[in-house]
Amino acid sequence: MTDVWTAVDDYVEGLFEPPDAALDEALCASDAAGLPSIQVTATQGRFLQILARAVGARRILEIGTLGGYSTIWLARALTPGGRLTTLEISAKHADVARANVERAGLAEVIDVRVGPALETLPQLDGPFDFTFIDADKVNTAEYFAWAVRLSRPGSVIVVDNVVREGALADAATEDPNVQAMRLFLEAAAKESRVSMTVLQTVGSKKHDGFAIALVIPTA
Ligand code: SAH
Ligand code: DHB
Ligand code: MG
Repeated sequence: MTDVWTAVDDYVEGLFEPPDAALDEALCASDAAGLPSIQVTATQGRFLQILARAVGARRILEIGTLGGYSTIWLARALTPGGRLTTLEISAKHADVARANVERAGLAEVIDVRVGPALETLPQLDGPFDFTFIDADKVNTAEYFAWAVRLSRPGSVIVVDNVVREGALADAATEDPNVQAMRLFLEAAAKESRVSMTVLQTVGSKKHDGFAIALVIPTA
């Protein structure tokens, strides 16, 4: 099925994504530096950008930078004067990302912070209007709790790689990443401060999905 999913991604990209030097160079430079090719796809990048723009995001938080590909998509959604903070454990990934962000002309609005996210998150002041969680999967529940804490009513939080080729539905899974996503979703389902769902995706990066949460006012 991946072939037909990729064909549809290619068709959609052909329609809506003209060649973009900054994004193309970010992918090339990330490859050249030996980073894994686990960025969001272009259609997913556009989707994240649309959501961030729809909430009028002035402050964006990203957990998991890699080479800054999703970072560039999201930073382009910022309203004038806005800023994006992105958290990355690997100094090497952060260096590649900073160079990519610089080439994209976004160095002034993006702050790449190096360190384990559970150590850098407590140093941040909210609220953030939009958060994208896409780092190590085992800590997702804790990242989500931080994201809610750093949000305001009306903020949107998106979590990548929740469905994991359908393994999410397997209650007996022994994969720690899948177990972590199940625990995260089961905790989030009890969280009265969010309205939430999971949207499955297919495409050139196979079958996966996003959790999407809207932070709502509590009584
Ligand atoms: N959002 C990126 C992809 C991120 S890949 C994109 O779509 O373009 C996941 C990244 O999370 C990797 O760069 C990895 O080094 C980083 N990461 C892993 N564990 C982390 C941690 N504990 N804290 C912060 N970043 C972490
Ligand atoms: C992996 C991580 C990701 O964030 C992703 O989108 C795809 C794969 C991984 O660690 O394999
Ligand atoms: Mg991901």
